[in-house]
Amino acid sequence: MKALVYHKPKHVSVDNVPDPIIEDPRDAIIRVTATAICGSDLHIYNGLIPDTKSFVVGHEFMGIVEEVGTEVKNLQIGDRVVVPFPIACGHCYFCQHAHLPTQCENSNPEFYGPEGDITKGKGGALFGYTSLYGGYNGGQAEYVRVPYADFGPRKVPDGLQDEQVLFLTDIFPTGYTAIDWADLKGGETVVVFGCGPVGIMAQKSAWLKGAGRVIGVDIQPYRLEKARQTAGVEVINAKEEKVAEVVRSMTEGRGADVCVDAVGMEADRTLLDKALATVGVQAGTAKVLENAFDTVRRGGTVTVVGVYASNYNQFPFGKIFDKTITLKAGQAPVQVYIDHLMALVQEGKVTLNDIISHRLPLQEAVHGYKIFNEKEEDCVKVVLQP
Ligand SMILES: NC(=O)c1ccc[n+]([C@@H]2O[C@H](COP(=O)([O-])OP(=O)(O)OC[C@H]3O[C@@H](n4cnc5c(N)ncnc54)[C@H](O)[C@@H]3O)[C@@H](O)[C@H]2O)c1
Ligand SMILES: [Zn+2]
Ligand SMILES: [Zn+2]
Repeated sequence: MKALVYHKPKHVSVDNVPDPIIEDPRDAIIRVTATAICGSDLHIYNGLIPDTKSFVVGHEFMGIVEEVGTEVKNLQIGDRVVVPFPIACGHCYFCQHAHLPTQCENSNPEFYGPEGDITKGKGGALFGYTSLYGGYNGGQAEYVRVPYADFGPRKVPDGLQDEQVLFLTDIFPTGYTAIDWADLKGGETVVVFGCGPVGIMAQKSAWLKGAGRVIGVDIQPYRLEKARQTAGVEVINAKEEKVAEVVRSMTEGRGADVCVDAVGMEADRTLLDKALATVGVQAGTAKVLENAFDTVRRGGTVTVVGVYASNYNQFPFGKIFDKTITLKAGQAPVQVYIDHLMALVQEGKVTLNDIISHRLPLQEAVHGYKIFNEKEEDCVKVVLQP
């Protein structure tokens, strides 16, 4: 089959690779009908989350069930499914009791560890996300093996097109997680850093959860415009204005009730950040995180779904302490939210596909990576068709 394979930083290609096969009775094989490139794939592409091995990339995919293992009773050949990006067993402490499939104790046996941190032990596994995250091949491919297929995949109700539900695999649940963790009561001012796919989904989620005012922040004018159009937010260009000052001026001097970091470590970097990265002290930068702690009001909440993969110099813990900030961060527990979010899509309460800027055949995936990474051709979200 054809698949997008990672070789080394900035080097991915569409290769012929062996078709996946059932390896465990709980596996299913899916024929992929739509898949997308994620900001998280760019961390691999840009070498911030490294691997020495080649693998098929991609964790946002959906398709048709082609084959099921003997223990998969919930799916039948021909079913159309969306697949959550965390690979999780469904039975362990974290899957069952903590509602955190992202911390599954069984799906990443080689590198799982209670310590956390990229050097000492990881959480559970992700599709197409390096050896450290389980070494599973991903879904930017014609076919994909889905482990624990009796726990992850969800059948798509009739009448919904692929593009209407594809983002239930990751970015909509991820944006929703960022808002759910902030526990809105209604009427809050929510500032979302990042108007990429995840940021825009967080903005849509903020309205769904009753925010009173939603403000999107980015450094790319075309992405600010996209957020304005698709999520109906006010916008601030962080290149041109001091975000914390603008937000305070909008909130009687206090700051936002909630700040969401939907940018992560690949924000535009200072010379110091680049120097620290070169000597291996930190991956990328935490400047957006610092901006969020600055912009949030005293007693407010900062949630972080943008990815950070190391410790960070000058982390402002004094500010967090002084302002009594609540902080929550991590990968999105997609399996926990997906059924509720599927219902919202089906009821027409939210539209997800309005952020798609590019539809390309899988064969042109390399071009898709380039324009998404370089922010060329006003690229916001690339959907690939195998
Ligand atoms: N936690 C999870 O489960 C999860 C799931 C999916 C994606 N993610 C992460 O979310 C982040 C965003 O993903 P995406 O697909 O939207 O990626 P993206 O790269 O398209 O979006 C990032 C946005 O941040 C903007 N940006 C850069 N520097 C900035 C700054 N200084 N201030 C404000 N904005 C700035 C960029 O212009 C871009 O629009 C990534 O880190 C990704 O890995 C996390
Ligand atoms: Zn993703
Ligand atoms: Zn588990």
